[in-house]
Amino acid sequence: MQPIFHSAVSLGKLPEDLVDKLGQFVKVEIVDRTQPLSLERMQELAASFDVILSEPQDRLDRQTLEGGKVKMIAQRAVGFDNIDFEYCKEQGILVANTPGVLDKATADLTFSLFLACARRIVEADKYVRAGLWNGFENELMLGHETAGKTFGIVGMGRIGKEVARRAQAFDMRIIYTRSDCSDSFESDEKDLDLQQKYGACRVSLNTLMRESHFISLNCPLNKDTAGLIGAEQIALMKDQAILINTSRGKVVDEAALVKALVENRIVAGLDVFSYEPNVPEALIKLNNVVLAPHIGSATEETRKAMAQLAVNAVIMAAQGKSAANLLNQSPAL
Ligand code: DGY
Repeated sequence: MQPIFHSAVSLGKLPEDLVDKLGQFVKVEIVDRTQPLSLERMQELAASFDVILSEPQDRLDRQTLEGGKVKMIAQRAVGFDNIDFEYCKEQGILVANTPGVLDKATADLTFSLFLACARRIVEADKYVRAGLWNGFENELMLGHETAGKTFGIVGMGRIGKEVARRAQAFDMRIIYTRSDCSDSFESDEKDLDLQQKYGACRVSLNTLMRESHFISLNCPLNKDTAGLIGAEQIALMKDQAILINTSRGKVVDEAALVKALVENRIVAGLDVFSYEPNVPEALIKLNNVVLAPHIGSATEETRKAMAQLAVNAVIMAAQGKSAANLLNQSPAL
């Protein structure tokens, strides 16, 4: 049945041309905010709007949605762990996300953080600005060579593959895990394909943690991946190995990660945190961690494409059609 949308709210700014486009089908309001809104405010919005254009910090669980009038959520992100999708399905609430358009931008940021860590770029920049540089020194800011090292990718989906392409160009040995990352996983056609395309070899999570010099987390956050990288896995990492997280903070046990960083056992590049925008205080002064404010997909082109995909999904639904990025029709979910 074709849903009738009268009103839509975009949480966060939406490009003007897209507001106009969407405005031809539904009355649009913008609620600009950076901090997550309170539960009460989210409930108010859910009670007032048929459509919510959301972002990762917007809590769209049963508590927010129950008793509201929301018929569709269009998430401007590929990750949708902030949405209770099971509840939405149960209630017939349509949910769309933005897959495919942000893979390259996110892989670029993964590599930016990786190289910043491996070559101590942020530390070096601070050193120069502080006026500490006295001239060429043989052992100044020594980093790690990347060629010939092992690069581990946790989660070989669209973004993981883009990361693998980059790692391949850097002459690294690539190992990866997929959803079954136990010691008894069974390889399949997909693994053969990944071997052929990227020279990548599938391993268990423990092997990946143990053998990698550099690790990139590229899996979605869900019930299977929450806390996937705990104290036990971190303890397996090589001394001074680099962990890059551009997926979701909660994939890692943040307290265990902070402890390993404070002890200077490992190095990390973090774009995501468990309770954004809160960054654990202990990390602020450390030189062995590079911090970014959840900007994996933050390029002009990509953010525009994400907004377009989300708006398009709403417009199609308003016309009784299913966009390809409508999650309710995905056989995998
Ligand atoms: C995503 O798409 O899930 C990113 O984290 C936000 O751009």
